[in-house]
Amino acid sequence: MLEILPLNASFATAVVRWQRTHGRNHLPWQNTQDPYRVWLSEVMLQQTQVATVLDYYSRFLARFPDVTALAAAPLDDVLGLWSGLGYYSRARNLHRCAQAVAAAGGQFPHSAQALQALPGIGRSTASAIASLCYGERVAILDGNVKRVLARTLAFAGDLADASQQRKLWALAETVLPPAEKDMRRYTQGMMDLGATVCLARKPLCSACPVVRHCLAHAQGNTENYPVKTRKLKRSAQSLWLLLAYRANGDVWLQRRPDSGIWAGLYCLPVFESAMAMDDALTPALQTRAQHLPPFVHVLTHKDLHLHAVSLALTPRQSPQTEGQWIAAAQWPTLGLPAPVRQLLVNHCTDMGQTSHQPR
Ligand code: ADE
Repeated sequence: MLEILPLNASFATAVVRWQRTHGRNHLPWQNTQDPYRVWLSEVMLQQTQVATVLDYYSRFLARFPDVTALAAAPLDDVLGLWSGLGYYSRARNLHRCAQAVAAAGGQFPHSAQALQALPGIGRSTASAIASLCYGERVAILDGNVKRVLARTLAFAGDLADASQQRKLWALAETVLPPAEKDMRRYTQGMMDLGATVCLARKPLCSACPVVRHCLAHAQGNTENYPVKTRKLKRSAQSLWLLLAYRANGDVWLQRRPDSGIWAGLYCLPVFESAMAMDDALTPALQTRAQHLPPFVHVLTHKDLHLHAVSLALTPRQSPQTEGQWIAAAQWPTLGLPAPVRQLLVNHCTDMGQTSHQPR
C-alpha cells in the first residue's frame, strides 16, 4: 500500500516534471507566447478534440495571421472557415473578441482578470492564456482538469452546483506551483494528465505522476469522481427542412437569424411543422415536394428530429421563401449546421455529384 502524500508543492512539482518528459510538447500552439495563437487554440479546443483542431488551426492562421486581420474579416468568412467545428457561438465570439482587442490597440490584455472580460473568454480560458503566455499564477479548470483534481482530492461535491464548482476552483488555486516560471508547464501538464492518463473511463493510474497524492486511487474508487448530476432535462424538437435545388447543383439557402437555433449560419429554410412548410409553397410546388427519410440530430440538450423535403426546380423557378440560390461550388465553404451539410452532401452524391465532401 502506497503512503498518501499531502497535496503540497510536491504535487505541482510532480506535474511539471512529468510534463517535461511525458506531456505533449509539439502541438502547433505550443512553444509560442503569442496570446493570439494561444487564444485561438484555446477557443477551438473548448469543445473539440486536438486531432480535429489541428487542420482548422493552421487554416485559420494562414488566413488570419494576427488579431487585426481576424477583426477586419467579414463574419461570414470566419463562420465559413469555422464550418464543421460546430458550436458556432465560439466563432461569433472569436470575431467579436478580435474586434474588441483590435479596437483597444491590437494587444491582448496581460492578466486573466482582464482577459475574462472579453467575449467568449471564460475563467478557465482566461487562466490558460495568462498562465501559458505570461506565467500568471492562476488555475485552469476545464473538464479534464476537474477530473484530475476531483480524483486527487476525492472531492465529493456535486459539480452541477455552482457553489461546489467555486470550492473546486479555490482548491485548484491552492495547488499551483509557487514559481511563475513553472506555470506554463504546470498548466499544460494538468491538461495533458487529464487527456492522456486520468481518463474518464479506465484511468491509467500506473502511469500517473501524482498517484501517490491521489485520494480516489487510495480509496480504489476513481470512477466515482467527479460527481456531477445532470440538471438539464433533454428535450426533443421536430423541424422540417426544405431542400430546394436545381439540376446544376444550386441549392436554396437562407441566413438564420442572429439568435436561436443555428444562429447566423446559412441553412435550408426551416419550418416548425409540415403544415407550415406546405403553407409556404404554392400548390404547384407542393405536388413536386418529396419527403426524405427523417433522421435525428443530437445536440447537447436536445434531440432534433429532422424531416427534409426535397424540391427539384427548373432554372427559372424559386421556392418563394426567403433565401437565395447558392452555387454548388460555394455552399461547401459556408458556415452550415452539421446536419444540413450532411443532407446536402448526401443529396449531391445521390445526384451523381460527388465533389462536395464535408470539411
Ligand atoms: N485543451 C485545451 N487546451 C489545450 C492545450 N493547450 N493543449 C492540448 N489540449 C488542450
